[in-house]
Amino acid sequence: MIERTAIYSDKEVFKAAYSTEWDFHDEDTQEYLHSLHPYPARFIPQIPRKAILTWSQIGDVVLDPFCGCGTTLLEGLVHDRSVIGVDNNAVACLVSQAKTARYTEGDIEQLNELAQAIQKLLVPEGTTDCLVPEYENIHYWFDENAIKDLGMIRWNIEHYTSGNAKIMALAVLSAIIVRHSYQDSDTRYARVTKEYTPKSAISSYLSKLQGTIKKILEFIPTLKYKFNPQIFLRDSRDLGFINNESVNLIVTSPPYLNAYDYHKYHRHRLYWIGGDVSLARDNEIGKHDVFTRKGATPDRYFEDMKQCFEEWKRVLVKGGRALIVIGDSIVNKQPVPVADQFIQICEHIGLELEKRWIRTLKTSRKSFNQGARMDQEHLLLFIKS
Ligand SMILES: C[S@@+](CC[C@H](N)C(=O)[O-])C[C@H]1O[C@@H](n2cnc3c(N)ncnc32)[C@H](O)[C@@H]1O
Repeated sequence: MIERTAIYSDKEVFKAAYSTEWDFHDEDTQEYLHSLHPYPARFIPQIPRKAILTWSQIGDVVLDPFCGCGTTLLEGLVHDRSVIGVDNNAVACLVSQAKTARYTEGDIEQLNELAQAIQKLLVPEGTTDCLVPEYENIHYWFDENAIKDLGMIRWNIEHYTSGNAKIMALAVLSAIIVRHSYQDSDTRYARVTKEYTPKSAISSYLSKLQGTIKKILEFIPTLKYKFNPQIFLRDSRDLGFINNESVNLIVTSPPYLNAYDYHKYHRHRLYWIGGDVSLARDNEIGKHDVFTRKGATPDRYFEDMKQCFEEWKRVLVKGGRALIVIGDSIVNKQPVPVADQFIQICEHIGLELEKRWIRTLKTSRKSFNQGARMDQEHLLLFIKS
């Protein structure tokens, strides 16, 4: 018997769409650099992989207009597609760049030099200069020793790396920031007092950096990317920088309504990597802090998404497809059948629903998203005819 939980489509629709076709529950989701950085609501790579292999050809252009940590982009490159990613959060763009860059021997040399310099900081008398971002409340969110340790790492990144090596070095720093702050978790922006063991950020950084260098060395020789990814730090409601009818396939999971606040979860990361905080905050679609307000309605979310869908229709070639992964939601205690609304909006603007599925998330992912009750999600396939 199928257990029906957080899906608000009609019962008959649910029965017809429920499928295990997109589950991949027993597969490895950490291949290549997919696990480089924690990212709320990231895809399992098998979803974009299957979509890319089914609905695009080698050399086609694949777009993810909400690219997050770059799962679609990496899968596209591995399968010889030309990829375009867009996100308004600088953490997303940094991680996407780090995952999809072509690393040269020179880059690896720089990363190894950085690792050696960081190793020296682990000895009791090991110190260097610090580079600490100045922002309000940094001392409220971090232990003084953590600020000093992270600041030394940041200084060494500046000193030893450039180009792609620097992008990767910063992505590794971003990956460990929340763990060494007083922020509760990657999906909870609340201060909790945690004990900070001096130098622990340095040892986490070193171990993550060394593991990453090993991964790059392991798989880079086997992958010969044919294309350079194009990654844009932009608001996806306006894709004016992408030509009309130039994209063959869109594979994406748009921001879920009232579920996350990427600008908050990544706030400290944004400061430490020198990212644009207001671009992330002011343009985030669906953010929790707007839709939890008293009397909130979901209208603004659907208006924003309509703007996005219109852009998708413009950039897709005739016969091009868009696969959307999305969950339903609750706003103001009212269930919102987000997927059903997406279908209505898309059909209204001329993107036709070709097929839909409902999949169940794997247990660990469920617990990650517990607050948002996302134990099932929709996959919607649209075609521009
Ligand atoms: C569900 S996540 C995508 C996760 C991605 N599929 C992955 O595997 O990492 C949604 C993303 O949409 C981004 N986003 C929200 N509003 C945006 C906007 N106006 N323009 C571009 N990106 C936006 C968020 O920053 C977040 O990274």
